[in-house]
Amino acid sequence: MTTIVDYLVKKEKATFVVMDPQAWNRRAIACYESAGFKKLCMLKQHEWHEGAMRDCQLMVYDDASSIIPIKDKDRTYIKKLFEKSWGSDVMVISSGIYHCNELDGFFVKNNGGEVEGIITYVFHDDECEIISLDSFNEGMGIATRLLMEVEIAAFRKGLEKVTLLTTNDNLHALKFYQKRGYRITDVHSGAVDEARNIKKEIPEKGYHDIPIHDELLLTKRFK
Ligand SMILES: CC(C)(COP(=O)(O)OP(=O)(O)OC[C@H]1O[C@@H](n2cnc3c(N)ncnc32)[C@H](O)[C@@H]1OP(=O)(O)O)[C@@H](O)C(=O)NCCC(=O)NCCS
Repeated sequence: MTTIVDYLVKKEKATFVVMDPQAWNRRAIACYESAGFKKLCMLKQHEWHEGAMRDCQLMVYDDASSIIPIKDKDRTYIKKLFEKSWGSDVMVISSGIYHCNELDGFFVKNNGGEVEGIITYVFHDDECEIISLDSFNEGMGIATRLLMEVEIAAFRKGLEKVTLLTTNDNLHALKFYQKRGYRITDVHSGAVDEARNIKKEIPEKGYHDIPIHDELLLTKRFK
């Protein structure tokens, strides 16, 4: 098992490997644990085996060494990062006004110590809302990895769904999220126009020169 994980991580550049052995199979679970897998949660009645539905133990091998949870010591630097990228760390969206710099999140650094991507989120009652996701080295899987880390955090907390708001001009983000299991579940027509009354710096036009007016709510349900 260790050889397979080594191959997947070193040769195939996998940062994440998932297994779901049946819960009674303690030898298999011990084998995965010794190869670095961690138990994530139990999948009840997950697999048909010898005439019955069996529980499975969801396990992950997570090469999370590059994923860093945001800590208080990082906040000054992160505030500057948001200011450099977006002019401010304040996000005015229809779910609230957020200082991204004060939120929970994760970031990825390269070997030179530069931040290559950052995600921030808040937990509500039964859902996790992603407030920001930024990749500074696109097309390398950084945002996918950060998104997955937040989904794991939400799943571990027993939440039902992950949501986020994006704007009508952000076609790339719409493609990115929909290819990762998110569905458009609501449209807040004119929400950005309202946000602009509070945060004047929000531009009139966005990606592809599209006028920005509306928010789209994207949702990924776990169940
Ligand atoms: C949308 C955004 C977050 C995507 O970030 P990203 O780091 O480029 O995302 P990923 O690299 O994980 O995935 C992008 C593509 O690169 C591909 N990719 C992933 N790993 C790769 C690798 N190692 N080499 C080459 N391509 C790779 C993916 O397959 C993906 O393509 P797909 O969507 O067709 O499947 C980024 O464009 C961004 O920061 N946009 C501006 C801010 C924004 O709009 N945020 C979202 C609003 S809420």
